[in-house]
Amino acid sequence: MVGLNIGIDFGSSSTVIAAQGKGIVLDEPTVIAVDRESGYPVAFGNNAYTVLGRTDDTIDVVRPVVNGVVSNYTMAEKLLRFYIQKICGNMIFKPNVIITVPSAATKLDRRTFIDVVTSAGAGKVCLIEESLASAMGAGISEKSLSGRMLINMGGGSVDVSVVTMGCISVSDTIKIGGLNLDEEITEYLKRKHDILIGPLTAERLKICLGSAVMRGEEIALVASGKSGLDDMPITFEVSTTEIYECINEKVNAMVEGICSVLEKTPPELIGDISDNGIVLTGGTSLLFGMDRLIKSVTGIDTKIADDPLYNTVNGILDITKNLGLLREGYDYQTIHQLN
Ligand SMILES: Nc1ncnc2c1ncn2[C@@H]1O[C@H](COP(=O)(O)OP(=O)(O)OP(=O)(O)O)[C@@H](O)[C@H]1O
Ligand SMILES: [Mg+2]
Repeated sequence: MVGLNIGIDFGSSSTVIAAQGKGIVLDEPTVIAVDRESGYPVAFGNNAYTVLGRTDDTIDVVRPVVNGVVSNYTMAEKLLRFYIQKICGNMIFKPNVIITVPSAATKLDRRTFIDVVTSAGAGKVCLIEESLASAMGAGISEKSLSGRMLINMGGGSVDVSVVTMGCISVSDTIKIGGLNLDEEITEYLKRKHDILIGPLTAERLKICLGSAVMRGEEIALVASGKSGLDDMPITFEVSTTEIYECINEKVNAMVEGICSVLEKTPPELIGDISDNGIVLTGGTSLLFGMDRLIKSVTGIDTKIADDPLYNTVNGILDITKNLGLLREGYDYQTIHQLN
């Protein structure tokens, strides 16, 4: 097949791209800044992220992927076009792209992914479920992909798959991710203390103070924001217990979603999962105590993979080298081959 093979993890929080023979070539937030009046993009990725929460009302900062699926086709296309151009430059042949989708993506979601990436400059496209790709990136070979539960916890969704013989047997995508935890923190501070903070501060508070289980010792942090009373700058102290309490409901909803996949799993497979354990990937798996919480609720040994933010793209990179790593049913196709 002619053309460079590239793998794209087009996540709700970040886009990571790897090219065959080169490794990871791009890692930027899935964010685009557009001029509100003309609709023309003014910044992409890292540059757009730095203005998130800092713009006036002439610029919109858009996240074109929400809960793991394309929510703004035009902006997703512009962002991917920019990234593909950055990597492929003036290559004569269009690249062949492997791109991840949530395992519960509908037919329409899947078609939209193929459509958007083709419009952005891809030749042929192959879709792969995120939890499957991330398991491969975590070093679980196809041979051992039997009776395992793989959970990718990202910025916009939690993708849960039970895999047997290299195929997904039961799966679901819970539409809650790390970005929703950030929103909970923002809303809590506004409601409780009349303090306004931006998305970058909310994410920092979550990473530094947030937890899925109550922490043994209380930590507090001083952060800056704006008073909702007089719009003046304000510094305030926030503690681990406060953050735990405000994100707890959403964290529990993630765990309930995981349990509902276990409930749908055939008994023999549950036995295998109990023996093999659960593997967590994705940035939100790094929330303090997430593995412990899942273990205590499910009763199944739960481990966070090494390098959880990059397992997905590393898995796709392996597949760009050898599509044969996957079972039948995965292949590159053009938009015209879809019916
Ligand atoms: N140490 C950490 N503790 C808690 N959350 C973290 C940590 N590091 C990263 N995150 C969160 O992980 C999320 C990003 O994870 P990831 O890159 O896997 O998501 P994504 O692939 O873009 O999203 P999705 O797969 O859901 O579409 C962000 O919400 C980020 O705040
Ligand atoms: Mg992801």
